Amino acid sequence: MNTFLISKTLRYLVTSGHKYGHRIHSPFVYDLIQSVFRAKNKKSTFAVIEKHRKKLLHDSSTITIEDFGAGSKNNTSNVRKVNYIARTSLSQGKYAHLLYNLVKRYQPEAILELGTSLAISTSYLALANPQARMISLEGSKAIAAIANETLQACGVKNVSVRVGKFDDTLDSALLDLQTIDFAFIDGNHTKEATLRYFEKILPYCTERSILIFDDISWSEGMYEAWQQIVANQNVSVSIDICKQGLVFFRKGIVKQHFVIRY
Ligand SMILES: C[S@@+](CC[C@H](N)C(=O)[O-])C[C@H]1O[C@@H](n2cnc3c(N)ncnc32)[C@H](O)[C@@H]1O
Repeated sequence: MNTFLISKTLRYLVTSGHKYGHRIHSPFVYDLIQSVFRAKNKKSTFAVIEKHRKKLLHDSSTITIEDFGAGSKNNTSNVRKVNYIARTSLSQGKYAHLLYNLVKRYQPEAILELGTSLAISTSYLALANPQARMISLEGSKAIAAIANETLQACGVKNVSVRVGKFDDTLDSALLDLQTIDFAFIDGNHTKEATLRYFEKILPYCTERSILIFDDISWSEGMYEAWQQIVANQNVSVSIDICKQGLVFFRKGIVKQHFVIRY
């Protein structure tokens, strides 16, 4: 953990509240807490994905990757073991469940993901609404090849993984999806890139769109990007759960920001 992340996490633990929705006056946010944050999932729901994650965690083969992102602070080599990526880069536990429960509750029809990695989060999102059209963007060819194996192993049929830098693939993905009902932005964690992706996605958002940004507390720059997103006049509800930030565009409700214990 870096020092910014430690101090932001401590601040979050002191200031966050509303874990059970008490004293929340927004019916929309109250419902979100009850039906998404507090949703109970049967282990069997994700068994196929978690079985495959286990396989990846035991895969000691190496691949050469192109790292387009802010990069790992611990590993500067381009040669990575699959099990290292599986251990350090993928959504797990309650954060993977959150993705699933958000999609399950709001049933987005067009889903975009920036940062496929080994397609574990992709599988959670896609399985929550198999009718959705989903595009997931990944910069590394070798990682995308493993992602496609994951999708096959998990029986996911509604996702197209597109390979290339986000700056080269995002525009056409947006044009193809036409509107963005749900986007998970989980790659290239720098302030400038995060704001750039937000600005590009924004014109494709509607009142029912949901954006979820990963690692908003990872660095000062990421947190500054998050604060600018929260302040955007189109955003009506924003929720900081420390690791991630959720953004909603619902109309007819007073603009409000929440810090919620998750
Ligand atoms: C944190 S991982 C994604 C994890 C995945 N969403 C999950 O939760 O299981 C980020 C991925 O984004 C990719 N990436 C980072 N920056 C990128 C960029 N500028 N263009 C394309 N891909 C990028 C990396 O190669 C990496 O696989």
